[in-house]
Amino acid sequence: MSELNLDRSIEAMARARNAIPGGVNSPVRALKGVGGDPFFVAGGEGAFVFDLDGNRYVDLILAWGPLILGHRHPAVVEAITRVLGRGFSFGAPTLEEVELAEGVKRALPSVETVRLVNSGTEATMSAVRAARGFTGRPKVVKFEGCYHGHADFLLVKAGSGLATFGTPDSAGVPAEFAAHTLTLPYNDPDALNAAFDAAGGEIAAVIVEPFVGNMGVVLPAPGFVEALRTVPRAHGALLIADEVMTGFRVAWGGAQELLDLKPDLTCLGKVIGGGLPVGAYGGRADVMSKVSPLGPVYQAGTMSGNPISVAAGIATLSILGEFDPYPWLEGKAARLCGGLAAAARDAGVTVQVNRIASMFTVFFTDAPVTDWRSADRCDRKAYAAFFHEMRRRGVSLPPSQFEAAFLSTAHGDAEVDLVLGAAAESFRAVGAAFPTT
Ligand SMILES: Cc1ncc(COP(=O)(O)O)c(C=O)c1O
Repeated sequence: MSELNLDRSIEAMARARNAIPGGVNSPVRALKGVGGDPFFVAGGEGAFVFDLDGNRYVDLILAWGPLILGHRHPAVVEAITRVLGRGFSFGAPTLEEVELAEGVKRALPSVETVRLVNSGTEATMSAVRAARGFTGRPKVVKFEGCYHGHADFLLVKAGSGLATFGTPDSAGVPAEFAAHTLTLPYNDPDALNAAFDAAGGEIAAVIVEPFVGNMGVVLPAPGFVEALRTVPRAHGALLIADEVMTGFRVAWGGAQELLDLKPDLTCLGKVIGGGLPVGAYGGRADVMSKVSPLGPVYQAGTMSGNPISVAAGIATLSILGEFDPYPWLEGKAARLCGGLAAAARDAGVTVQVNRIASMFTVFFTDAPVTDWRSADRCDRKAYAAFFHEMRRRGVSLPPSQFEAAFLSTAHGDAEVDLVLGAAAESFRAVGAAFPTT
């Protein structure tokens, strides 16, 4: 297998390091998790991305989830182009914002009103503020391994013990800012009960990725879902479903449809912007009526409801609503993940393949991955080797063991076969390099 020519990307990265911290505008793009240089993207089409050196990759990152229709879907391109002819930012209401909000409401019955923002981070930060404003309580519960964007008080994971009052994960966050964040193990209903028994009257909300994508894909156990349904409510706290990744991705009605959850608030992003910057939070009308200008909880944005993002979002949701591609995606993803597991087995490499709908992760470990502690036991070096073997064979995987990979409607059988062919060879190479894996 010849080495990948990344000369132009390596040159671009050297230049980028002089102008941008670490050369990238979001850390995971720097490939710290797997080593080496990233490829610089020249463009994308359907299921593929192309780099500056002319290499082509089956894209399993898909902009970290938004591109459920693949790159440059004609209907999305057409919608964006149409908007450009009319003007692309007004700072005043447009009818299309209402249309997108109505589309969200139709898909998610728990959402009575919804506010558009510019990123998932803004959505989660604002939803927690609304929950605090509504309940008059200070504390928020999150789960270890769940990522809710980079707001100060959400950049916290658990320390040791069952429940740890927050210590910040990032420099630059004063401990006081995280002091109201309580981090619990995911999939542990007893820990949730214990936290509410200890501090229930102070907890405004529980925020959760109902299906986790941000420690790799991890699925909730039925008992945990039941605890999410009942425990916060019993104590007068709100449930915030962070569906920034899962919304319109795992089903038309998101994770809440598949899990029969009725969150008080929902955070969205990614797919609802069709690949352009967007976020949204919404839910119970009585909670959302606390948000300015109706109520005292302040939240605003110069670019919120930006016409280009809104147009791309409407076009994307229209296609998803009209054609219901979810069963098709399920079939493709099941075939892909079944094939990946089989290829690993044939190569004598032990992996766990976790999947929900068109999101999946190949974990290099022999034990089921159900929470952060089991995810953390994975062999990161074996994953890194797999990443590079796959990339050399034209498949772009997430450059971290702890990220979800995605399929789009542009990934047909031919693309799935390309990935499986590359995986069979890559697992053999990893098995040879890491004989105990
Ligand atoms: C579940 C979840 N919440 C929030 C965010 C933050 O979204 P953004 O990167 O748009 O700020 C992400 C981003 O990956 C996410 O996956």
